[in-house]
Amino acid sequence: MTEMNTRVLLARRPAEHLVANDFEVHSQPLGSIKDGEFMIKNIYLSLDAGFRQWMNDGSGDNYLASMPLGEPVQSIIMGRGIESRNAEYPEGSIVMGRTAWEQYSIADGSDLMSIIEPDPALELHEYLCSLGPSGMTAYFGIMDIGQPKSGDVFVINAAAGGIGCIAGQIAKAEGCSTVGIAGGTAKCNWLLDTLGYDQVIDYKSSVPFDEQLHKAAPAGMDIVYDNVGGAMLSSMLSQLAENSRIILCGAVSQYEREGGHEPVGNMWELITKRARAEGFMFSDYVDRYPEAVEYITAMLKSDSLVSPVNWSEGVESAGQAFIDMLAGNNLGKCLIKL
Ligand SMILES: NC(=O)c1ccc[n+]([C@@H]2O[C@H](COP(=O)([O-])OP(=O)(O)OC[C@H]3O[C@@H](n4cnc5c(N)ncnc54)[C@H](OP(=O)(O)O)[C@@H]3O)[C@@H](O)[C@H]2O)c1
Repeated sequence: MTEMNTRVLLARRPAEHLVANDFEVHSQPLGSIKDGEFMIKNIYLSLDAGFRQWMNDGSGDNYLASMPLGEPVQSIIMGRGIESRNAEYPEGSIVMGRTAWEQYSIADGSDLMSIIEPDPALELHEYLCSLGPSGMTAYFGIMDIGQPKSGDVFVINAAAGGIGCIAGQIAKAEGCSTVGIAGGTAKCNWLLDTLGYDQVIDYKSSVPFDEQLHKAAPAGMDIVYDNVGGAMLSSMLSQLAENSRIILCGAVSQYEREGGHEPVGNMWELITKRARAEGFMFSDYVDRYPEAVEYITAMLKSDSLVSPVNWSEGVESAGQAFIDMLAGNNLGKCLIKL
């Protein structure tokens, strides 16, 4: 019987908010590999909010091309090589890289592909979470741009998500006083009770955001880890401490905004506060991943890092799970188990 490969395609350009009909589940016979390629049976798919940006028409930029219609949605995956015509990726190896929402992927070693040598004391999926792109993004954003010092006030938005969970705990381990921003009372209580944030801000509550921020950081913020962009970032820039560092990691509030990204205000504050704002992509740090892996592994093994996963099952679930993630219905890193 012909082996089939079920994939989730980007069926049309989303109009503002993603809906289920923007995706289409499609099965096709498994292809064959050419010289230099290998076949991966995917084990986990990682859902990363940033990919929403490249679903938009004309969103191609220096980092990624706009996702083509009728093709499977791009994704970071982890899987096992089941057939290989590439000596660097022998059959049986566990690999991670950027392919797509599909049961099987054909790869050639490009696109962030690497072999994982899992530590048997850790769960395999951890290599897509705290030891994968989310953990690398959290670690290098904080260490290189945030440059934390003991006693710094560290404030992060999307604090309960894939990046946020790990970043908040690293900042705390570095001696910062941590403030997590998320939507809803239940989520904010979870930030305090499960992730150990010192304070929380519920940006969906009726109390104005600026007021809550001033209460949490009356002397201003030393480090801002921004995953949200837009109006929330503008507000945050008005409450900086002197010599603060702003880690520009993502702009999730903007990916679904009609007309593209809105301008960010209060830039003058960067001058008078002698602040430094810097953007980065996790993939800039590939050569230094071992440093982050060593640091985060030590936290995991000493039980000083909680690494929560928001699980969904089956490739068919990826579209709805991604929609739910953008709506904030996740606690922790969103993964699909195949
Ligand atoms: N620079 C890099 O290399 C890099 C790498 C990976 C990810 N990123 C960025 O990191 C950010 C987080 O990504 P992730 O994959 O870990 O996703 P995530 O945080 O697990 O999920 C996205 C979260 O964003 C929050 N959110 C959505 N719309 C919002 C809005 N309008 N205002 C405020 N919060 C909103 C939601 O939580 P609430 O309930 O709190 O609203 C939601 O749970 C994204 O901006 C992504 O682009 C950057």
